[in-house]
Amino acid sequence: MSVLVKGGEIVTATGRYFADVYAEDDKIKTIGSNLDFPADEVVDASGKYILPGAIDPHTHISMPFMGTHAQDDYQTGTVAAACGGVTTVVDFDLQQKGESLLEAIERKKSWAEGKTAVDYSLHPAVMDPRPEVIEEVKKAILDYGTPSFKIFMVYDFRVDDATMIKLLEETKKYGGLVQVHAENVYIIQHMNEVLEKEGKLAPYYHAVSRPNIAEEEAIARAAKMVELTGSRIYIVHLSSKEGLFKVKEARDRGIDVFAETCPQYLLLNEERYREPGFNGAKYVMSPPLRTEESSRALWVGLKGGDLQVVSTDHCPFDFKGKKDMFGTDDYKKIPNGAPGIETLLMLLHSEGVVKGRISLERMVDVLSTGTARMFGLKDKGEIAVGKDADMVVFDPNQKFTITQSKLHMNIDYTPYEGMEMTGMPSVVYSRGRRVAEWQGDHVEFVGEIGRGRFVKREPFEGF
Ligand code: URP
Ligand code: ZN
Ligand code: ZN
Repeated sequence: MSVLVKGGEIVTATGRYFADVYAEDDKIKTIGSNLDFPADEVVDASGKYILPGAIDPHTHISMPFMGTHAQDDYQTGTVAAACGGVTTVVDFDLQQKGESLLEAIERKKSWAEGKTAVDYSLHPAVMDPRPEVIEEVKKAILDYGTPSFKIFMVYDFRVDDATMIKLLEETKKYGGLVQVHAENVYIIQHMNEVLEKEGKLAPYYHAVSRPNIAEEEAIARAAKMVELTGSRIYIVHLSSKEGLFKVKEARDRGIDVFAETCPQYLLLNEERYREPGFNGAKYVMSPPLRTEESSRALWVGLKGGDLQVVSTDHCPFDFKGKKDMFGTDDYKKIPNGAPGIETLLMLLHSEGVVKGRISLERMVDVLSTGTARMFGLKDKGEIAVGKDADMVVFDPNQKFTITQSKLHMNIDYTPYEGMEMTGMPSVVYSRGRRVAEWQGDHVEFVGEIGRGRFVKREPFEGF
């Protein structure tokens, strides 16, 4: 199978240029002017960008959580990814009590077997940190190709600081990266008690219960553990200006603290929790949405390099049937999470590039090239000879109004309903095969379920 993409503008993390791209089987074989190879598929990309497929390194496919489970499975989740121009998904793999990390990897791979529409990998999450589990880090990195490990500082399955230190020490030896959900659980528990006594239990109080300082303190503490061990961490779903300052402070002192943010923290703010009735529940996620001041700071951090990646934290729960299953009288019982895998690229382009908040090249860096480097995806993240032919032929002028009925995620709402997009994928390729295309008023999946495969990743090599 071969594809020739002609006349487009290739965008990299550092520049752009006009050239044709020829891909054969899985790989990009040639890039050059006026290529004239016979190909099974020839695409006219004039007036369009050729972007590397986006990589979403933060998803919760089928994750059991808060009495239910996240609704997208590997089929619906990766079909939605493909339609949004996301060609690699790195999903969290939560270890169960008594399970080993390697068993957790095998279990989640079995859930994905035959179901994925694009490539995927896994980050094991350490939830039951027995000594023998910490010792599995070496094998997970060197044999299983999963060099990043998630820990939570909140929720019932959080780990303590001692575990964080042990994991930082162990990952440092083999080129691993510890990913941290950073919120101070005691601040949140205290706020929950105060709000409970005052009878403040509507969705809005979810945000009040998790103030910016809960994130700020946890990031500062985690950064100190990195300073102690000389290891490295990656803060997931960074949401607040105060948290960002702690990342920046550590980085300015040469401590390896990396961080991602997500479109919801860049584009939505806590006023959403005040929507009429129970509507605010749609935005109940942790950390919560913040003020515009934080969003503005996050855009600056993204532009300037203190934030290296944009992910989605895709964790969908229906508004009707899930969000309202236990939580109508108490924000604490509303399943935490929101959908986003399909809207990642369109939002970053429309709200970031078109509005002049970041350059097109920076968008490619934080969605693809930098993400691939951060997570050891050596064949992904760039339009370059020898890389996987994961490509998005992107029409920067195509208009689209986001609406749930034109999306593919397995959920009954989108937080971005009604937002006007400028720029959409025209054609999406995953390892040289067309998986999605613009069909007049939306992007449709045209790929093959089961062709996506597990990608072994390389140890961290510096950023
Ligand atoms: O609210 C969220 N973010 N749900 C998913 C789990 C997590 O903390 O990332
Ligand atoms: Zn989290
Ligand atoms: Zn998450």
